[in-house]
Amino acid sequence: MQILSLLQERFSHALDGWVENPEQYKQQVVEARDARHGDYQANLAMSLKNVLSKNPREIAQELVERVELDDICLQPEIAGPGFINLRLKDEFLAEQVAKLAVDPRLTVSEATDSKTFVIDYSSPNVAKPMHVGHIRTTVIGDALARILRFLGHDVIADNHLGDWGTQFGMIIYGYRNFRDDAAFEQQPVAELSRIYRTVQAIVGYQAALPKLPEAEVKLAEAQETLAVVEASPDEDAKQQKKKLKAAKRSVRSVEDSISGLNSKIQAVASAPELLKLAEGHPEIEKRSQLETAKMHAGDAANLELWEKFVPISMEEIDSAYRRLGVEFDYTYGESFYHPMLSGVVERLKDSGLAREDKGAICVFLDEFETPMIIQKSDGAFLYSTTDLATIEYRMEHFKPDAILYVVDHRQGEHFEKLFVAARKMGYRDVELQHVSFGTVLGEDGTPFKTRSGTVMGLDLLLDEAVQAAHAVVCDEERLEKGGLAELSKEETLRIAETVGIGAIKYADLSHNRTSDYKFNIKEMVQLAGETGAYLQYMYARTCSIIARSETNLSMETVGGFEIYLAEQAERDLVLKLLQFEDVLLNTVEEYYPSVLTAYIYSLAKQFALFFDQCPVLKAETRELKESRLALCFATQQVLKQGLELLGIGVVPRM
Ligand code: ARG
Repeated sequence: MQILSLLQERFSHALDGWVENPEQYKQQVVEARDARHGDYQANLAMSLKNVLSKNPREIAQELVERVELDDICLQPEIAGPGFINLRLKDEFLAEQVAKLAVDPRLTVSEATDSKTFVIDYSSPNVAKPMHVGHIRTTVIGDALARILRFLGHDVIADNHLGDWGTQFGMIIYGYRNFRDDAAFEQQPVAELSRIYRTVQAIVGYQAALPKLPEAEVKLAEAQETLAVVEASPDEDAKQQKKKLKAAKRSVRSVEDSISGLNSKIQAVASAPELLKLAEGHPEIEKRSQLETAKMHAGDAANLELWEKFVPISMEEIDSAYRRLGVEFDYTYGESFYHPMLSGVVERLKDSGLAREDKGAICVFLDEFETPMIIQKSDGAFLYSTTDLATIEYRMEHFKPDAILYVVDHRQGEHFEKLFVAARKMGYRDVELQHVSFGTVLGEDGTPFKTRSGTVMGLDLLLDEAVQAAHAVVCDEERLEKGGLAELSKEETLRIAETVGIGAIKYADLSHNRTSDYKFNIKEMVQLAGETGAYLQYMYARTCSIIARSETNLSMETVGGFEIYLAEQAERDLVLKLLQFEDVLLNTVEEYYPSVLTAYIYSLAKQFALFFDQCPVLKAETRELKESRLALCFATQQVLKQGLELLGIGVVPRM
């Protein structure tokens, strides 16, 4: 049921033959800003003032006479300068919610203009530990895929794995030189990740060492500048303040970079074992790069190692996906596109889009200061080259109407350039979107890290959330009080898993995707507040009422129940339920899952209010009891479907 578009259509129709292009005004029919004035409002009269050269109140008057709303609304009211306030008829609401309750699609229609979407999400770098940022892309991408599919679109979920990058050179080098065979035998994932971290630490150390003296010189210079500013102040006080601020800022920035260098040096210098390795393996970064280059050039020994490492790492990644309930149609990693890269570069050169500059092949884009490099002077291809090949491939094989990239905001410039380049290559009709998201922060406001100070592995993080959920939801005293003491251990574990994973997902989805947010497991699993756990709990409450009613409620039986809207809380709940489809359409308009989470949360709160104010099992009459049970049932269905579209599971009791 699309209430909003129904009202919009009616108004647009009322303008037929009166103004040109009536469609353009329909966006001005919106949800009411203040529920006291109505359910919806039409603000067209004000924008038609100049078009019709008339007083907006008169226009509103005429509009009200023309628009056909009798079957949907009470007599519209004109307010203020010319707002038209609309209140839906109770009969209409009752009739529509009765339809919703018996429809497996909850009266959400399937798109008549079905489109093909490729969604590029998750895309972790293989053989590096997966971390909290990877959850955000996975969860947002999965929710968008589910919603678009539900709305009747074709969705191709493509996991663009980073399985061909420079980390392999580091791991190959580390594996040959630093591996512990017994450890590799027993826990290959952990050992690979240890090897990777070892090489990374040494690379950091060796790069920082020569930079430190340079940085110290810079610091002395900056301090000198500051001393001069302090010793001979500018006569203009404002200028002086500005100069001081600038001088202090540059001292601070050099100090920061020195402390960064020092911590990289310390990480190795304070660990004798590591220090010995670092000294015995000079120029490790260069040597690792060489291993990557050899692998890319087809070196058999390196490729053999690559083939050994990828499945080990994938097993871990896949286990996280299983736990998250996420599936992909394709997992074409970067390696898949490797054979196509030289062709892409050739074609771009031939068409004049790319040319050589200081040995590198570049695509120059007027819109940007720096070009997009697609092949380095040593012949190596880059991340951008792969992404161009990927667009070519997807366009040819999937013929999408849109490609969505659910990737961290720090890659914003990469995608801006990529999209401009793709347009130049002739891909003009496809919608290319960077569905960007912010950083997940720790309590201190810096990027989330675990207690040990490193970015945490995904599995551990999920475990931690599940444990926290168990502590809150499956607390013995709580279960006792809620009459759930007889739940088996398996059942409580299943509840904790559903709530813990749901909590992480809900937190990721409910924050506006473009903003950063603080990751706090304890808060996310709470039963009160805007959390996944609260919504799952409200769902379980609908189940419990229905169970206690001892009526065999289903889509078939509920159809026989008449709906009465006796109380305000009932009417508000019904209106909310009927807005489900409008919300879904709005969610995918600019790909913000937080539109849907906000709706589900407000639906749950509305249900709590209804439940508080309208006795269900103890309703005054049998008719009213049935009507209210039908509303519980409809709420249960919408909550369940809404959460499912977010990838969040439910349990019947918790
Ligand atoms: N593997 C990349 C990373 O972890 C993300 C890839 C995103 N997708 C793409 N087509 N570039 O940073």
